[in-house]
Amino acid sequence: MGKGSGYGKVILFGEHFVVYGLPGIASAVGLTTDATAVKSGKMAVKDERKGTEGYSDAKRAHQLESLERMFGAMGLNEKAFDIWLGGDLPVMSGIGASAASSVAIARAVSEEAGLDYDDDKINEIAYEMEKAFAGNPSGIDNTVATYGGLIWFEKNLAGGQNKIEKIRAPSAVEIVMGNSGVVADTKKMVEGVAERRKQHPEKYDAIFKKAEALAFKAREALEKGDIGAVGALMDENHKLLQEIEVSCKELDELVEIAKANGALGAKVTGGGGGGCMVALTPGKELQERVAQAMEGRGFKVLRTRIGV
Ligand code: MEV
Repeated sequence: MGKGSGYGKVILFGEHFVVYGLPGIASAVGLTTDATAVKSGKMAVKDERKGTEGYSDAKRAHQLESLERMFGAMGLNEKAFDIWLGGDLPVMSGIGASAASSVAIARAVSEEAGLDYDDDKINEIAYEMEKAFAGNPSGIDNTVATYGGLIWFEKNLAGGQNKIEKIRAPSAVEIVMGNSGVVADTKKMVEGVAERRKQHPEKYDAIFKKAEALAFKAREALEKGDIGAVGALMDENHKLLQEIEVSCKELDELVEIAKANGALGAKVTGGGGGGCMVALTPGKELQERVAQAMEGRGFKVLRTRIGV
C-alpha cells in the first residue's frame, strides 16, 4: 500500500494576482489530506474527507480529470488503483483542498507504483492535477501542499522555475478561517478575472500594481513579526479583491464580523466567490472571540495558525 499526505493552505496575500506572475504569500495550515493507494483490478476512489456539504460531489468530475492528468504525467499505463482519501483537513473551497488531495494521491500512487518521486517531482505532478480544478493555476496551492511552511511564490510566466522562498516569521500566529458555506469553482473565478481584466485593462493594471507593492510590504512585516502591519495590509488586500469582484455577500459579512470583533486584518482567501475568508487573530482569546462571533451568525469556522 502506498501512503501520502498534502497540507491545507491559506493564501495571506496575492491570490488571483499570482496567476499573472505577481508575488503571493501563503502558509500551510497544520492539517492534512491523507491518501492511500493499492493496486487493484479497477479504478475506485473512496472519499471520507469531512467538510462543506456537497463539496466532494461538486468536484467529482474535476477529481476524475485530475487523476487522468496524474497518470499522464507519471507515464503510467496501469490506471487501476483503490484510492482512499481522508485526514483532518476539512474540504471547503479556499483551503487548498484540491491541491492537498492531489499531493496526497500523487505521493500514495508514486509509492505504490514503485516510482518513489521526491518532493519536487510530486509538486510538478500535483501542478498538472490542479489544472483540472483551476484551469490555469499559478502553482501556489500545490507548492504549499507539497512543502508546507510559510512561502513567497512567484510564477515564472515563461515556463521556467517558479520563485519559491521560505519566509521566516518569528512566531506562529492564530487565525480563524470563516467558511461562507458556498462551494466555489476556482476555474470560473480565475476565468472571470481574466475576462474583466481584458475589458478594463487600465483599471486592472492599477489594481495589479497595488497588489504587487502590498505583497512586498507584507513580507517585510511578516519577517519583522509586525502583526499589526500584516493585518492592515490584509484589509487593503481584501479591498483589491472586492475591486476585482471575487468577494461575495457571505465573505464580506464574515470579514465585517471579524473586524467588529477585533481581528487585526481580514480578507477573502483563495479563489473567492464563496469558500473561505481568513482573519488574523493573534492569541487564543482573540481567536476564540472572533470564531464564536462567526459561529453565532451560523458560519462554520476553522481555528488554526500560520507560520507553523
Ligand atoms: C486559489 O487558491 C488561488 C488562485 O490564485 C488561483 C491560483 O493561484 O492558481 C485564485
